Amino acid sequence: MDKLLVHGGTPIHGAITISGSKNASLPILAATLLTEDDVVIRRVPDVSDTNYMVQILTGLGADVERFSGTVRVTATEISDTAPYDIVRRMRASVCMMGPLLARKGRCVVALPGGCVIGDRPIDLHIRGLEALGAKAEVEGGNVILSAPDGLKGATIDLCGENGPTVLGTDNVMMAATLAEGTTTITSAACEPEVVDLADFLNSMGAKISGAGTSTITIEGVGELHGTVHNVIPDRIEAGTFMVAAALAGEGVTLRRVHEGHLVAITGALRKAGHQVHFNDSGDACTVLRGDTPMPAEITTDPYPGYPTDMQAQMTALFATTPGKSKVTDTIFPQRFMHCAELKRMGANIHVADGQAEITGVKRLSGAPVMASDLRASAALVLAALTAEGTTEINRLYHIDRGYEHIDEKLEALGARVERVRV
Ligand code: EPZ
Repeated sequence: MDKLLVHGGTPIHGAITISGSKNASLPILAATLLTEDDVVIRRVPDVSDTNYMVQILTGLGADVERFSGTVRVTATEISDTAPYDIVRRMRASVCMMGPLLARKGRCVVALPGGCVIGDRPIDLHIRGLEALGAKAEVEGGNVILSAPDGLKGATIDLCGENGPTVLGTDNVMMAATLAEGTTTITSAACEPEVVDLADFLNSMGAKISGAGTSTITIEGVGELHGTVHNVIPDRIEAGTFMVAAALAGEGVTLRRVHEGHLVAITGALRKAGHQVHFNDSGDACTVLRGDTPMPAEITTDPYPGYPTDMQAQMTALFATTPGKSKVTDTIFPQRFMHCAELKRMGANIHVADGQAEITGVKRLSGAPVMASDLRASAALVLAALTAEGTTEINRLYHIDRGYEHIDEKLEALGARVERVRV
């Protein structure tokens, strides 16, 4: 298991290019199962989650070729049963259900394991697919969905107690593309990754409207054809490096971003006293650490609100921001594993009832810390950039799940980091 050594105290500056979105790539890769034609997807980040997804497609019988950021998939003959041992390792595999069910009339997909950020139920996914006519049962750790008479359009509300579901919206939208008649999803997730999937499906001949709003309409069609698609930039990777620049930067420029996807993150950084400037076309931004960083209160919300995937990173910034800041996660109230590790570095954080209260300290000190989930691990790397001495971040595979070559990008910005293969 690799670890990352971060030698703190060296300011970062310069420019890097943001990779394609992991969270757009995963459902789009799953959606390639909806056609027998060749599908080409560009800017798929080289991270372990997309590698897992490619392995699942191959395990289902699809022909997959990957060269640098481009993936070509041809799903001529495929099984209805996803490989259990890979699926159970990645929650996002759940988005295979919709396409497999629509293509094969049946699917067998391992129940996703829970994870450290909280219970990861799939009741809304099942509710949506049952509304389209599927029958669901659980057997041997798998969810088995079958629709021998095909799928029929329906009106489905996908709101759970913590709001909409991103992958649940994706699953129902993908299944509905080949259903008979029209499907309307209310309380749909509005994330840019859902819009990118809808754009991808429409380029395959689907008839989807309203993606990006809370009501999506899908008119079923007989079949879908091949396409070529460029994945949108990863707004969470961009946000992570924006926070790094506010924490330890002397002017960092990020290329290939999408200003419209970064409104909440930009607002939070400006509220905390830092400078964010976009170019005229909104596809590059420069972040400068403010002269007077300010404490702030952040509450996560479904898009376009402040993303839950960015709350750990802001907590790392607030750890050395003078004053009292507060971070509340309304989507994953248990998503505070990073706080214990930040306290090991000297942070002053109190966690209770889905909220972290952070009292800024002058400087953190390097320590051996444990990565626990993707975004918590990224927060530890950010905190280490300005900490006194060296921080050793173990279980680096958590970061490699969703950040493409993070150590190389940090080194390109002048950070003193080294990946140690253990
Ligand atoms: C997606 O997960 C993202 N993953 C997550 O990013 C992100 O944190 C999450 O959306 C919220 O924005 C991918 O896109 C691959 P949800 P998803 O279904 O779709 C509850 C990362 O770091 N819920 O939108 O699985 C759920 O418990 C990852 O890149 C139900 O109750 O999340 C949560 O409280 C982590 N029943 C809320 O809804 C369900 O059937 C939102 O979950 C499904 C979800």
